Amino acid sequence: MPLVREREDTMRIGILGSGLMGGKLGTLFARAGHEVVFSYARSDQKLKTLAREAKGKAKHGTPAEAAQDADAVLLAVHWSRIDDVLNQAGDLSGKVVITCCLPMNDNDTELVVAYTSSGAEELAKKIPKAKIVLAFNTVPSEVLFSVYEAKRKANRPSLVYCGDDRKAKELAAVLISDVGFDPVDAGPLQIARYIEPFAMLIGQLAYEGEEGPELAYRFERFGK
Ligand SMILES: NC(=O)c1ccc[n+]([C@@H]2O[C@H](COP(=O)([O-])OP(=O)(O)OC[C@H]3O[C@@H](n4cnc5c(N)ncnc54)[C@H](OP(=O)(O)O)[C@@H]3O)[C@@H](O)[C@H]2O)c1
Repeated sequence: MPLVREREDTMRIGILGSGLMGGKLGTLFARAGHEVVFSYARSDQKLKTLAREAKGKAKHGTPAEAAQDADAVLLAVHWSRIDDVLNQAGDLSGKVVITCCLPMNDNDTELVVAYTSSGAEELAKKIPKAKIVLAFNTVPSEVLFSVYEAKRKANRPSLVYCGDDRKAKELAAVLISDVGFDPVDAGPLQIARYIEPFAMLIGQLAYEGEEGPELAYRFERFGK
C-alpha cells in the first residue's frame, strides 16, 4: 500500500496525548475524514468523550492500540511525559511520528534543549527508526478550530514543518492542509532548532499579548 495517498483517502491516526493539542487536532483529523484513536490521558472517560464528540470515525484506546496499524501517530505530550508515552506505545520503528511537542521545562517557562539541538532531534535519538516530522507546534491550540472553520477561504495561515523522510513529510503536509493551514516545508529535522524558538515567539504573542491566543501566521513572498 503506498504511503503517500490522495488527499481524499482516509488515514489512520493515533493520538498519543489527548490534551489541548492532541484532543483538538485528533478531533479535526476525524472531522476531515480520518480514522482517529485517542490515547494517553489521565482518565478513560475523557478519551471516550473526545472520541464521541469528534463525530467522525474516532475511538479511544491505549497508546499501543493507537499506534498499532496507524499510518501516523501524533505525539502531543509534555516533554516530561515523552519517555512514558513512548514506552506505552511500543515499537514505533518505521512509523510516521508527527510531533508537536516543545522541549519545555516543568513549569513551561523555557526550552530545555535549544540552539545546538532541538526537541525533535532528541526525540529522533530515542526512536531512531521512526520517521519524525515536527509540525503543529507553532500555533496555540486555541486557534485550531477557527483555522479549520476558515479553511475554504483564501489566504490560509502558514504552518511550518520539518523532517528528514520525504514521504512522512508528504503525509504530514496532507494533515496540515486538512486542518486548514498552508504547509510550509522548512527542510530537514535539524531546522527544528529554529522552529522551536519560533514557537516560543508565537506563544509570547498569543499568551502575553493583549489580543488573545487565537493567533496564526502567514508567510508572503514578494518579487516573484
Ligand atoms: N497547548 C498549546 O497551545 C501548544 C502549542 C504548541 C506546542 N505545544 C506542545 O504540545 C505538547 C502537548 O501540549 P498540550 O498543551 O496539548 O498538553 P496537555 O493539554 O497537558 O496534554 C497532554 C496530555 O498528556 C496527558 N497526560 C499527562 N500526564 C499523564 C499521565 N501521567 N498519564 C497519562 N496521560 C497523561 C494529559 O492527560 P489529561 O488530559 O488527563 O490532562 C493530556 O491528555 C507539549 O509538548 C507542548 O509543549 C502545545
